[in-house]
Amino acid sequence: MASTKIYLLDLKDRGLAISSIGHIQTKAEAKALITNILQGRNNKTKKKTLPLSTSSFFSTLFSKSQKHLHNAFKVIDPPFHSSVDSCPAFGGNFAPVEELEPTDCEVIMGELPLTFNGVYIRNGPNDAQNQPGHLLDLFFGDGMLHSLQLSNGHARYCSRYVKTYKYMIERDAGSPLFPSASSLYKIVDLLRFLMAILTGHLDPMKGSGVANTSLAFFANKLVALCEYDLPYAINLTENGDIETLGRWEFDGKPKLLANMTAHPKVDSETKETFAFRWSLIFPHLTFFRFDENGIKQKEVPIFSIKQPSFFHDFAITKRFAIFHETQLVVSPMKVMMGRGKLVDYQPGKTPRIGVIPRNSLNDSEMKWFEIQGFNTIHILNAWENGDDEIVVLAPNIASFYNAFDENVEIKLEKVTINMKTKNVSRNILSPRNLDFGSINPCYVGKETRFTYLGVNTEASMKMSGVVKIDLKMGGEVGRRFYGLGCFGGEPLFVRRNPEDTMSDEDDGYLVSYVHNEQTNESKFLVMDAQSPELDIVAMVKLPRRVPYGFHGLFLAKDQIPNYSIFPVNELKCNT
Ligand SMILES: [Fe+2]
Repeated sequence: MASTKIYLLDLKDRGLAISSIGHIQTKAEAKALITNILQGRNNKTKKKTLPLSTSSFFSTLFSKSQKHLHNAFKVIDPPFHSSVDSCPAFGGNFAPVEELEPTDCEVIMGELPLTFNGVYIRNGPNDAQNQPGHLLDLFFGDGMLHSLQLSNGHARYCSRYVKTYKYMIERDAGSPLFPSASSLYKIVDLLRFLMAILTGHLDPMKGSGVANTSLAFFANKLVALCEYDLPYAINLTENGDIETLGRWEFDGKPKLLANMTAHPKVDSETKETFAFRWSLIFPHLTFFRFDENGIKQKEVPIFSIKQPSFFHDFAITKRFAIFHETQLVVSPMKVMMGRGKLVDYQPGKTPRIGVIPRNSLNDSEMKWFEIQGFNTIHILNAWENGDDEIVVLAPNIASFYNAFDENVEIKLEKVTINMKTKNVSRNILSPRNLDFGSINPCYVGKETRFTYLGVNTEASMKMSGVVKIDLKMGGEVGRRFYGLGCFGGEPLFVRRNPEDTMSDEDDGYLVSYVHNEQTNESKFLVMDAQSPELDIVAMVKLPRRVPYGFHGLFLAKDQIPNYSIFPVNELKCNT
């Protein structure tokens, strides 16, 4: 072991002091030094090896050290890697907020339509254990749900953490226990995590996810999702509150590294739900579906994917599931060695789209089509054009090397693939940078004329406005910008009348939380999706700042599940 210089970062009394306390050359010296610090005997001249067994050492260190952990475990702590430091930080309107109980809101412009009854909920990261020295980027912040209950023209806001296993045990410990995937090179974070497992304080079988990415409604359950854990079932109470029912173990029993995409697709006609899970371990992608009764069907491993490519989203058509392998590969070793981000751009790799019959029992019928320079995070929709053509609608990230940074270039594209001739044609539908789009949910897997996207002019997740794209007209037919210093998120399309199956595709509202960075106030906007200026139908003043976030969902009043008729154990939830 090479000589390692040791620093002590002392966080007592909210102060912060860094001091060099010597060098170590052996593992025994490292053990002795940590133990001395925990016992308040920092003496750099002593190099005595303590006679501790490994298990008692870890147990003593963990169980006695909760108050001292943040002092002691800052010992071997390299500076943040510059590539990770550039991730959006929890600052400005990304900063976490406290939970807020259901609170009535004032409608300050227009009127909430009396028929607009239900709940809008948006997910997002809200770092519950944000402490100096513990690096966390936005993608790994604890999920917080921000809901707005809409009832007969009135609005009631509520925000609650998703009570994931990670959130609960870190809350009880009063400190972070799970390492952020973007800071795997931080020995301190890894040590803390391993010690928590070794001492029985943490059970990795219960999941490590933050459930911060999206919400979905299927199998008569409302769930909060992130792609490296199972869904968490959520209950909405009559008074507008949000409760976490628990982790939904849809495989029946806990499995290590069980997970599911945050973007499942529900076929509104067949009521089937399609999903996948991604894995670092081969097979890297596994496709599965739930039948109309919410029963999971046989898994289909996709063996033709040879690298742990990054899969965030996918699409379905009437007959097929569409996967997109981009030039992004997940590389935890690169992070651990302090040489890059978790998701690594590989310019030598060719992006491709894979098409598999959606009721396949194996991947033998999967076909791949190479598409140069086509890299997406989200796929808005896909559909079939006759027997041979597949159409994919997605924002393409033209400059993938800075996909998660400022000045990113994302152009909405329509890609048409002839599966017989393998001919691919591509059309860019807008010169703007667009992402976080939505469509009428009844058109999932069907030919779509309209889509609505956030205009991305700064960091990802901060949208300066919203545009409406008409594929028939070939471009933008509606727009609204929120004003100087004002940013929204995903513009979610909500049907005006969920029971009217004959209504026009764009007959509905666009909704989003919008934050004014100059006044530090947040509002909820309801816009008319059919008007060229996306007119404001109603504006609701929210009781406090709502941080920027990821994806949302609207549940009409009669869609909200009544969990009182489902005993929690029937949900197979594990709290
Ligand atoms: Fe997403």
